[in-house]
Amino acid sequence: MKNITSYIEENKDKFLNELIELLKIPSISADSAYKKDVLLTADMVKTRLEEAGCDSVEICETDGNPIVYGEKIIDKALPTVLVYGHYDVQPADPMELWDSPPFEPVIKTTELHPEGAIFARGACDDKGQMYMHVKALEYMTSTNQLPCNVKFMIEGEEEVGSINLASFVKNNHEKLKNDIILISDTGMIAKDVPSITTGLRGLSYVEVEVSGPNRDLHSGLYGGAVANPINVLSKMIASLHDENNHITIPGFYDKVEELSKEERAEMAKAPFNLEAYKKSLNIKNVYGENGYTTNERNSIRPTLDVNGIWGGYIGEGAKTVIASKAFAKISMRLVPNQDWKEITELFQNHFESIAPEAVTVKVKPHHGGQGYVTPIDNIGYQAAAMAYEDTFGKAPIPQRGGGSIPIVALFEEELQSKTILMGFGLDSDAIHSPNEHYGIWNYLKGIETIPMFYKHFSELSK
Ligand code: BES
Ligand code: MN
Ligand code: MN
Repeated sequence: MKNITSYIEENKDKFLNELIELLKIPSISADSAYKKDVLLTADMVKTRLEEAGCDSVEICETDGNPIVYGEKIIDKALPTVLVYGHYDVQPADPMELWDSPPFEPVIKTTELHPEGAIFARGACDDKGQMYMHVKALEYMTSTNQLPCNVKFMIEGEEEVGSINLASFVKNNHEKLKNDIILISDTGMIAKDVPSITTGLRGLSYVEVEVSGPNRDLHSGLYGGAVANPINVLSKMIASLHDENNHITIPGFYDKVEELSKEERAEMAKAPFNLEAYKKSLNIKNVYGENGYTTNERNSIRPTLDVNGIWGGYIGEGAKTVIASKAFAKISMRLVPNQDWKEITELFQNHFESIAPEAVTVKVKPHHGGQGYVTPIDNIGYQAAAMAYEDTFGKAPIPQRGGGSIPIVALFEEELQSKTILMGFGLDSDAIHSPNEHYGIWNYLKGIETIPMFYKHFSELSK
């Protein structure tokens, strides 16, 4: 029987070419102009799952983009792993900052990826990471080494909030029944520092509109005498943080989980080089909430960030105008115990309350989700840790992540299962940014490590 490393060696080119085919299709979920591509991508995922050995694969229609569901049930008495991933990607803009077109994948070497990395939108988030699971399945089925049942659920709306996936999960408890959920849609500390993400932040995403006069005005004739919505919005936004970079919304921190000194000391052991961090981002210094380290600020602490702000004249040259309206999109990353609906309401009440009488404010909630923490004392985590030990030669470090995959908390609520986040991306892979890429080494290491998870999880389940 073939072992995994020789299987990967023999099939490496095929693995890369198949991923490249997947990356060529611009499955952007945020923009309905790409609907056709989204559907094409779902079809391709279906075909690949069939080829990898699933017994049945279906395209499940939703009110939005379809979910690809496949399974291979070898024995009902054995445990079942549910793999979740997403085939949709973020929009590619700003286009001009890409060194090569986002949907024409190319392989180039980088400092961190001397073996080469695939540059394309979705390379790491999440087509490349999702596809590792398809190839790991192919290996296990074609060499008769699949030790348990497997279900795949690959969705097409993760990047826009998984709205339709939530009802799919609610309506399909039996179909999705599993013993553990496995996801590769996060990162790890470094190629020689394996880590398992043990936490995801929650999210509340809102859009605000500040309206002043009923039309755009001459800034000389009216300036100084009426509220300028852009000035007002800027002031309101600025007031949402105090001088310590604490968020000022009343009640915002009430439920925030405070970590013990011991837990924080444990976190601080993870390797982190502040100078390299600053250098990689070309910043003179870091910035954030007083009293917390960089790694704490981006994982165990909640945040509030403006994602976009617009209004008024932004064309060439100057136009002396007071705009009638100003807008902003704002996201809040939440930590365990903060409820996203409650936080959204707190935000809305506060934002409306700080608006001067001279303007009207509208707050439109977009989407959100709860945070998640993976307990490290369950067999899913232990199996994953053993798998990393097999393939990296060292134990992985548990690490809370700063990003969000809101559906994970819902999985636990609806399916009563824990999720293991085995991410193989690096922070420097530029997900959501121009020049997103995924290291070939990481891709193949993932394919190598995943079957070990199945093996250990099946054994620990006995
Ligand atoms: N894969 C990311 C989430 C992620 C990345 C978590 C790295 C941890 C480390 C996912 O595709 C994503 O981008 N999620 C969104 C949330 C969603 C509701 C749009 C996010 O975190 O902004
Ligand atoms: Mn993702
Ligand atoms: Mn993403």
